[in-house]
Amino acid sequence: MHKIISFEQYKQVYKKSVEDPESFWSDIADGFQWQKKYDKVLEWNFRDPDVKWFINGKLNITENCLDRHLEKLGNKPAIIWEPNDPNEKNRTLTYKELLAEVNKCCNILKKYGVVKGDRICLYMPMIPELSIAVLACARIGAIHSVVFAGFSANSLVDRINDSACKMLITADGLFRGNKIVNLKEIADIALQQTKSIEKVIVYKRTGSEITMQDGRDVWWHDEMLRAEENFIAEIMDSEDPLFILYTSGSTGKPKGVVHSIAGYMVFCYYTFLNVFQYEENDIFWCTADIGWVTGHSYILYGPLLNGATTVMFEGIPTYPDAGRFWSVIDKLKVTKFYTAPTAIRSLMASGLDFVTPYKLNSLKVIGSVGEPINEEAWHWYDENIGKKKCPVVDTWWQTETGGIMISPIANVTPTKPTFATLPLPGVQPVLVDNEGKELTENNVEGLLCMKFPWPSIIRTTYGDHERCRLNYFATFPNLYFTGDGCRRDEDGYYRIIGRVDDVLNVSGHRLGTAEVENAIDEHPHIVESAVVGYPHEIKGQGIYAFVIIETQVDTSDEAYTEKLKKEISEVVSKIISPIAKPDKIQIVPGLPKTRSGKIMRRILRKIAEGEMSNLGDITTLLDPGVVEEIIKGARL
Ligand code: PRX
Repeated sequence: MHKIISFEQYKQVYKKSVEDPESFWSDIADGFQWQKKYDKVLEWNFRDPDVKWFINGKLNITENCLDRHLEKLGNKPAIIWEPNDPNEKNRTLTYKELLAEVNKCCNILKKYGVVKGDRICLYMPMIPELSIAVLACARIGAIHSVVFAGFSANSLVDRINDSACKMLITADGLFRGNKIVNLKEIADIALQQTKSIEKVIVYKRTGSEITMQDGRDVWWHDEMLRAEENFIAEIMDSEDPLFILYTSGSTGKPKGVVHSIAGYMVFCYYTFLNVFQYEENDIFWCTADIGWVTGHSYILYGPLLNGATTVMFEGIPTYPDAGRFWSVIDKLKVTKFYTAPTAIRSLMASGLDFVTPYKLNSLKVIGSVGEPINEEAWHWYDENIGKKKCPVVDTWWQTETGGIMISPIANVTPTKPTFATLPLPGVQPVLVDNEGKELTENNVEGLLCMKFPWPSIIRTTYGDHERCRLNYFATFPNLYFTGDGCRRDEDGYYRIIGRVDDVLNVSGHRLGTAEVENAIDEHPHIVESAVVGYPHEIKGQGIYAFVIIETQVDTSDEAYTEKLKKEISEVVSKIISPIAKPDKIQIVPGLPKTRSGKIMRRILRKIAEGEMSNLGDITTLLDPGVVEEIIKGARL
């Protein structure tokens, strides 16, 4: 009913959604199961900011993901789980089975005192139990905070403490290619620095030797064995928080982006249905990790709200070899496939020998998310994976937007390589110049903002609303600022250029330069550092770190400086995650600073890109000579 099936219809629906957003969104919201219908569709201002959708509505999102489908789809696979090891048996959970597992998990949470509004941290492998735990939180009314299992103990500590999580759900370990990561060991280190966690539930995945703390730690399987299969979903308000997801900004520590229930539900449902043109017998596979927003919205909530079958993959694209994605597509007969440009580029680099053994003839739509997709990767994907028969949906969105904002609708919107194309209905993008003046023409480049709220817009940053205001709503009055630069071409098509702030996008992972610098500075011999991104063939952006070391250290001793660089990488890995390790480290005598002490990153970026001849005006620097020194030692 809400599916757009032609470009003409898209234009009409889009027009309606802008002229009368409230009736547009309430039409969609009315298809859900509400415990009590909302009184009013929308109240908002971008000044405070204060945005509320479906006001005074009462519901539980899991009733809409699970219970609602039971009658017709009870025996339909909800989740197909593909393990890391292709020889291990995969697992399927039907809608009925998934609900039973979720209910059991709810009863465990209840037994250990979890109540509505509590925060629960999930630090888990990509296994069905992660999905079960997420949904159980939502069903009991607790706020889930999933922390990507590649993050370090330090990162876990920050995230647990920031939102004072009461419970941690984790596993003994996880499999990643041919590696085992001992998650519980990392969690134990973290738990020494947290006060709020009362209970730890541990899923046994790898069978690694671990220690269980008496009175605090319990085994998932022991508890599930005893748990009842019935649980009545908590009645929640539309605007109650559903989850917190930490993401990096240009300053300070990662912030907890908060999404609320009803708006997120409506937007995830609608965008999944349309962008991927969902059909009942689809096997949908989004390769993201549930630790990122893409996994929240398009492995779990979007597909389940539509009654779809969603694939959850535990492994990595290159294990046992670079044909794994394609072999899984053939094995499970995947119809719609959604991945990241960094994966496409790395598989492209492995060569077609890993692709040609597979038929890939079940595919109907292929998608991309997380970073700009370059022209070469777009065409490779289109030709070799989609066989020129599957529309490529390049979907632009952010943790803060909750769901896809600018994207082709498969088979509806004519695509154009590297363009996210047009806004989805209900999404009102504008481009502004540096002063905030709207650029109304086509064929312009500017800063991407939104001038009207959509249902799954960020509500706040956990515990610090002012930070949310300053980050997204204070740059330009009455606009949500995305942090992205963007071009709109002669057809009105949008092409995302990339971040204009100090946020890096490394293999689709979002990292703040300040975050990486703070980690590097923890090394005892580092005085100061500056980090910038540079174009990287596989990762999209690589991390280039310029570091100043203590004067007593002998920089001419190559063996020593190599050791130092290794240590720096280890420090970053330990403090943030291996994903944040610098690709290049250059020891410099100083950093280019203005007289007021601000680092001129623009200059460092140019040097990292190898564009030495085009550094712009450097005469205003405190010490222009330092630039020459940096150029001399540049690592290109
Ligand atoms: O710069 C944009 C880039 O990823 C940023 C959002 O990162 P995150 O919150 O981690 O969410 C990623 C998954 C939704 C954006 O500000 N980005 C995301 N998708 C695209 C993109 N850049 C270009 N094209 C895209 N399709």
